[in-house]
Amino acid sequence: MKYHVLTLFPEMIEQGLNTSIIGRAIEKEIIELNTVDIRDYSVNKHKKVDDYPYGGGAGMVMQAEPVYRAYQSIAGTTQKDKKPRVVFLTPQGRVFNQSIAKELAAEEELIFLCGHYEGIDERVLEMIVTDNLSIGDYVLTGGELAAMVVIDAVSRLVPGVLNNDVSAEIESFHDNLLEYPQYTRPEEFEGRKVPEVLLSGHHQKIEQWRRMQSIQRTATRRPDLIKDASLTEKEKKELGLN
Ligand code: ADE
Repeated sequence: MKYHVLTLFPEMIEQGLNTSIIGRAIEKEIIELNTVDIRDYSVNKHKKVDDYPYGGGAGMVMQAEPVYRAYQSIAGTTQKDKKPRVVFLTPQGRVFNQSIAKELAAEEELIFLCGHYEGIDERVLEMIVTDNLSIGDYVLTGGELAAMVVIDAVSRLVPGVLNNDVSAEIESFHDNLLEYPQYTRPEEFEGRKVPEVLLSGHHQKIEQWRRMQSIQRTATRRPDLIKDASLTEKEKKELGLN
């Protein structure tokens, strides 16, 4: 997977992603991260990339030309047969979730565009953006943190990024159920014991217990998800869900 990030703050993206699991995947060349500094494509001798909004109003707007030139600088390097999707991070976009992460993980190359100030000149957005994505209903100071969230969630679905491929599937949101609680040594901590069943060595009972924990957790913590989980009739009855 190759990511290109068009941004005014490339060091923020690089520092944010060059650590831990994603950093290791970059080192192992399973994923590739190319940041493009939009300021390098300024057409102004002072390297200015923003200007006042036509029609007036507060704040500055990022100009179309530096963004377009930054985009063109990578458009020439991407695979010839397929134009990569261009994801613009904006609170006006589709709200990002695990199924969008899966969809994006199937791509070979992705371009992210991060805005700042009061926005980007609409004309360049019309020309290059294929997907508008939001990471939630709140407003950030720029698109960089949002791009990092999306890149992190997509990358862990790329084969080889996690050490064990099973865990990417079993974790929260697989089949719309939250993860069951986990415990490790010691058996007792501040008077709190690890649930007996987990020490029993009885694999089938452990599986059943974990599944019920997942279902109960989802029903209480995220009732909005439970309707899309595939539960057996017996499970629904036990939870009083029908
Ligand atoms: N830029 C500013 N706020 C954002 C949000 N909530 N999601 C994505 N990009 C953003």
